[in-house]
Amino acid sequence: MSEATGKKAVLKLDGQEIELPIYSGTLGPDVIDVKDVLAAGHFTFDPGFMATAACESKITFIDGNKGILLHRGYPIDQLATKADYLETCYLLLNGELPTPEQKDEFDTKVRNHTMVHDQVSRFFNGFRRDAHPMAVMCGVVGALSAFYHNGLDVEDVNHREITAIRLIAKIPTLAAWTYKYTIGQPFIYPRNDLNYAENFLHMMFATPADRDYKVNPVLAKAMDRIFTLHADHEQNASTSTVRLAGSTGANPYACIAAGIAALWGPAHGGANEAVLTMLDEIGSVENVPEFMEKVKRKEVKLMGFGHRVYKNFDPRAKVMKQTCDEVLAALGINDPQLALAMELERIALSDQYFIERNLYPNVDFYSGIILKAIGIPTEMFTVIFALARTVGWISHWLEMHSSAYKIGRPRQLYTGPSARDINR
Ligand code: CMC
Repeated sequence: MSEATGKKAVLKLDGQEIELPIYSGTLGPDVIDVKDVLAAGHFTFDPGFMATAACESKITFIDGNKGILLHRGYPIDQLATKADYLETCYLLLNGELPTPEQKDEFDTKVRNHTMVHDQVSRFFNGFRRDAHPMAVMCGVVGALSAFYHNGLDVEDVNHREITAIRLIAKIPTLAAWTYKYTIGQPFIYPRNDLNYAENFLHMMFATPADRDYKVNPVLAKAMDRIFTLHADHEQNASTSTVRLAGSTGANPYACIAAGIAALWGPAHGGANEAVLTMLDEIGSVENVPEFMEKVKRKEVKLMGFGHRVYKNFDPRAKVMKQTCDEVLAALGINDPQLALAMELERIALSDQYFIERNLYPNVDFYSGIILKAIGIPTEMFTVIFALARTVGWISHWLEMHSSAYKIGRPRQLYTGPSARDINR
């Protein structure tokens, strides 16, 4: 439980003074406990949760002004360069980085759960071939709840742990099959001799006709880093959705499907796809000034820029930009879209309009360019984000279920009609 500071905020309400306790976390602003305003007949009002801490958590810390992102205390740039994705998963789930033995054991567990029940594969056939991959993911991940429900007790710690492993292990299989389905190729089964990122790329790009298909290690490393950089991000919209759905005691696979739905929007995970669509629409560097005028007239948004929390820089974007440079250099790609992206970045960082509004490139500005270089089609970008974020969602779900929690039930400021009668 958080530390009570002994400090109190005093709220004057209708001549009455209400003392509200203040708590301190390890880092970040103190929080005012507003529960007592209810007894005084009031609700608090904070649409968009701009100033509301909805829960207590030990997983991730963000300081948006300083551009700091820590998972269990470790800075994201160190995790991205000194640890791999599965180590980061272990850290998010368990609170510490694994020892070499714990790492081996965890990797083996994940590898042993990469297959999905064969009947899951039949769900894909119900979708149109041109369905958006995120629509398919919402459906097939939600469908896992039908395979793990009757015997699953969310109050049992062992059941919760195996659920987390299953989700981390199976989500790449479902993501790759979603892609295969849309392009009409047969599903490629997981290969447990490959590491997490290699296995995913193999399921994405191998075909039964090409038995010697080898995953490029540069691309596997870049993929692993993209996964790491997207692994968790505190109480964002999709994580809050998973917590809210989970607070009812709902099936965790269904909760993750709810998270996938929330992630899909262009203001959240859909932004990486929207960046490439925007670059396509702009076309070439000469069209950038005209596009920027449209942004300033608020006719369009500069996708991949701005963040609800980061108002200085996005620490993930720094590592992502470096990875982007490395991947393009290693592959010898001279992508004209990169030149276009760099021009947008240059103008935005020097133009008063963007400076005044603290608009900086976020993680998705660069991730799209790397994903494109890896060969991932644009429509799959948000699926990759969902794959990587699954560990964050399930870590928060586990944390919530590991201590006392209440069903999430916000109230409202009602502005509809007063009570009235039907007169007929
Ligand atoms: N392009 C142009 N103007 C913008 C943008 C943008 N991308 N983002 C914010 N603004 C302007 C906005 O119009 C407003 O201007 P004014 O003060 O004149 O009314 C000002 O900046 C403040 O914006 P806001 O809407 O109050 O900011 P917010 O914190 O509610 O929104 C955001 C954050 C991420 C939804 C928004 O910046 C956005 O839509 N960005 C583009 C989408 C994007 O890249 N999202 C990915 C976020 S990173 C991945 C993830 O974690 O999900």
